[in-house]
Amino acid sequence: MFNPVRALAAFALAFASLGAATALADGPILIKFSHVVADGTPKGQGALMFKQKVEERLAGKVKVEVYPNSSLYGDANELEALRNNEVQLLAPSLAKFEQYTKQLQVFDLPFLFDDIEAVNRFQKRSKGRQLLRSMEDQNIVGLAYWHNGMKQLSATRALRTPGDANGLSFRIQSSAVLEAQFGQIGASTQKLPFAEVFKALQSGQVQGAENPWSNIYSQKLHEVQPFISETNHGVLDYMLVSNSRFWYGIPHQIRVELEAIIDEVSYAVNKQAEAANQADRQRIIDSGRSQLITLSNEEREAWRNAMRPVWQQFESVIGSDVIKAAQTVNRKQRD
Ligand code: SIN
Repeated sequence: MFNPVRALAAFALAFASLGAATALADGPILIKFSHVVADGTPKGQGALMFKQKVEERLAGKVKVEVYPNSSLYGDANELEALRNNEVQLLAPSLAKFEQYTKQLQVFDLPFLFDDIEAVNRFQKRSKGRQLLRSMEDQNIVGLAYWHNGMKQLSATRALRTPGDANGLSFRIQSSAVLEAQFGQIGASTQKLPFAEVFKALQSGQVQGAENPWSNIYSQKLHEVQPFISETNHGVLDYMLVSNSRFWYGIPHQIRVELEAIIDEVSYAVNKQAEAANQADRQRIIDSGRSQLITLSNEEREAWRNAMRPVWQQFESVIGSDVIKAAQTVNRKQRD
């Protein structure tokens, strides 16, 4: 029986394939890979590794252009540019998909994951894999997760207890969960694109931020933040995404090779990210520009208790099944 939805999908795919095939007839398929961080970070290195491997294995068939540091698109417009096929690969942090799916907000919940290994386990299990497909109805396909690392809190004053953050304004990514997280400790927030973070901190527009070590170091945030508390309170990871119509329109053999390259690059990025963050942590300490505040177990527990109510607040939007799946793979089983 004629199924109009299927017919439309088949037509769309055929149309997309035609587009990619035409591109190939006209020359190599062009993949523009845009991102907002520096080349030296885990994501920056992953993008360059992807380009290098494609050049080695798909020369003449696929060409990759990498645009770091928001030089092509920034946080405000990169996902729309992807959906319009103006750029073909991005790796936004997971907080930045809020507009397209609420399920990925699970990654923003404070103190949900004990460490990056717990995050890794969740991403590999079936619920984590399912989330890669959670935006396909909006023409966004998730190809892989890439790690950056756990976030630390930086500020103009020493943050040892949650009460120390009271009254400060923190720069956050565009995420309702992160807004609520800071609300729990009496702090206000400003949602700003990553490219504006250094200036906002330097000028005093905001007094604090949360970032993994590699983003702090590569953006020189430690030079304008006299204190960094090692809270490891949340994760900043990425989803490598493409435009679904573009991606499924790539001729099969080429797409299979691209996916093999992505697997290899993702493995390398995820293996190296933690060491890269620890090296940047040490560089920050060695710079003497910012004082590192390490928390005792009791002090960290106080932060956890203060922020933990956010889970309940977002449980119905994220889905209790998603949160439970994340809790299940956490090493230290708590409540
Ligand atoms: C990034 O690592 O891509 C930027 C994250 C942020 O906006 O804080």
